[in-house]
This record gives sequence, structure tokens and C-alpha cells, in this order.
Amino acid sequence: MIIAFELIKKIADGKFHSGQALAQELKINRAHIWRAIAYLKSLKLEIYSVKGKGYKLASPIELLNEAHILENLSQKTATALNLLQVLSVTHSTNDYVKEHKLRSLPEKTAVVAEAQTQGRGRAGRTWFSPFGANIYLSLFWKLKQNLSGLSLVVGLAIAKSLEELGVTVKVKWPNDIYYENKKMVGILIESEFKPGADTQNIFIGMGLNVNLQGCAFGSSEADLELKNTITDLTSVLGVTPSRNLFIAVVLNNLVEFLEKFESHGFAYFLPMWEKYDYLMGKLISVIKPIASQNLVGHAKGVSQRGELLLDDQGVLKAICVGDIKVRENLR
Ligand code: BTN
Repeated sequence: MIIAFELIKKIADGKFHSGQALAQELKINRAHIWRAIAYLKSLKLEIYSVKGKGYKLASPIELLNEAHILENLSQKTATALNLLQVLSVTHSTNDYVKEHKLRSLPEKTAVVAEAQTQGRGRAGRTWFSPFGANIYLSLFWKLKQNLSGLSLVVGLAIAKSLEELGVTVKVKWPNDIYYENKKMVGILIESEFKPGADTQNIFIGMGLNVNLQGCAFGSSEADLELKNTITDLTSVLGVTPSRNLFIAVVLNNLVEFLEKFESHGFAYFLPMWEKYDYLMGKLISVIKPIASQNLVGHAKGVSQRGELLLDDQGVLKAICVGDIKVRENLR
């Protein structure tokens, strides 16, 4: 749908554009315009069509721009990164990187997309990925085998990036980022283990809500529930920050934190974790993956290896995996 991406450049300013003017500028007929609009709407972009006025986005969009991202990278990140790819629509940036690695994407590649049609969250969940609204980023990296605490370190790098923007967030173990009890960022880290190799392929995926105002949420119960439990940068800041600039800020911090993690491990980040720990002191349930019993207790921080520490009736347990549900706030 190349036409749709030409059309979005014309209407990205959030102003009305008549179908006729768009058809003339793009040298296509009105039916093609209509189809391109329908395609963009299918990517959850809210577009108003008003008779006599034309088409208008519910909220203006700053489209992704490779040059703009590159010019905001630090010297260190620009040197470290081998490739930055900006995609319009893909199924999932994590899957894209996995499928194209080695064939065309070298290690230390970052991929961002305007929309994902099959954005994936943790535990098989889907990730809401409307066009132009948010940041969908994947980073392909190779790390030495000991990865304990990596997901927490990635969460901290993003939390620090948000703080640089003036947004104070907390990180919910292992790495969901919350602003006042609502989720703003989700992180999905996947790895490929090759027996005998001294490094592993790591795919770090980040979905960060930037501006949900211009998105078409569905009306199902699940969509309403989603809408009530997430937040975005625009609601918090009162303005929509530049996605291009923020992608660069996140990459700068990720590169720095990953390099530190490689040389010092998670223990180096423990004091920082204490500052951002969302769960500390809360009564929580740990929903264990398959066949083992769920646990309930108070969160007591994390270990030197990044395991969640849970006070289960006086016994301190170290948790490596599990989904966390908060049952009550601080006692
Ligand atoms: C979660 O909180 O469940 C994790 C969400 C991770 C979403 C990001 S968006 C970029 C990357 N591509 C995906 O398909 N998922 C991750």
C-alpha cells in the first residue's frame, strides 16, 4: 500500500485535506484515496472524513525519519550501531529482526516501525500497535551467556530516558514501565541459545505509548479494559514529544546500559533499581508459568542477580520468572 504512505505524508499535519486535492497531488483517482484511507484506518489510525471538507487525522503525526533519529544519536551510539532501519508497517519488529538477521541485518541493528500488524507482548499477549502513535523498536545484540538481570537493566535504561524527558516512572519487575499505576511501556526480550557459542543473540523489543489520542480503540470489553490500564506520554506531558528524538535518547541509554551490563553484570545496577522499584513493599501474587503453584507475599526488592525477592510468610523466596499482579498498595 505505497499510496497510503504517500497519503499519510500529506495529511500528517492534522488539518483537513479534500479528497480531490489529495487525488490531484498524488496523481491518482478518488477511489484509490478512499482505499488508502481505509487501509490506514485498518492500522487503527483515527481519520475523520467530513463531507465537503475532506479527511483529517484525529491528532497530527510526526512521521518516523531516519535522518532525524541519526542526528540525535550520541557519538558512542552512532559508533556502536551497525544499522538503523525505519519501516512503515511490519508484522512485529522483533520477528522482523529475527527473520532478517544474518541474511541482511548485522548484529547491533535497531529497527523501528510506524505500525505492527501482529505486535507481540509477553506471555503470548498481543501488543496494541496503531500507526504513527507510538514507538515500536527492536534491537538485535549479542551478549555473553550470563543474562540474569538483563530485562531489568533494559527497563532501567528506558526509565532513565523517560526521566530525561521529565517523566518520572517506576519499573515493575521484570520490566514493565508504569506512570502512576498505568502501564506506559512494555518490553519483550527474546534470546536464541546456541550450544557451545560464547554469545547469544538477543532481541530487545520495546513498545512505548506516545500518543494514544489519535488511535481507534475497538469497543470490545478487552479494548476498554486496555484503554483504562495504559497511559501515554502525551497525556502525561500535555504535548506530544518527538518520537524521532525519543528513539535516539532510548538508543543512547540502551547502548550505554548494555555495555555496562556486559562488563559489570546486574549487581552494578542494583542501587538504581531500588530507586525505580514499583513493587517494593506491595502485596503481590506471582502467577507462575505452567504447572507450578502461584505465590503470594510482599515484594522485598531484587537479588544481586535480578531475581524478585518475595516474603512468603517469613520465608524469602527468589523468583526468576512469573507474571506479577499487585493485590494491594504499600502497607
Ligand atoms: C509486554 O509488556 O507484554 C511486552 C510488549 C512488547 C512490545 C514490543 S513493540 C516492539 C516489539 N515487537 C513486538 O512484537 N513486541 C515488542
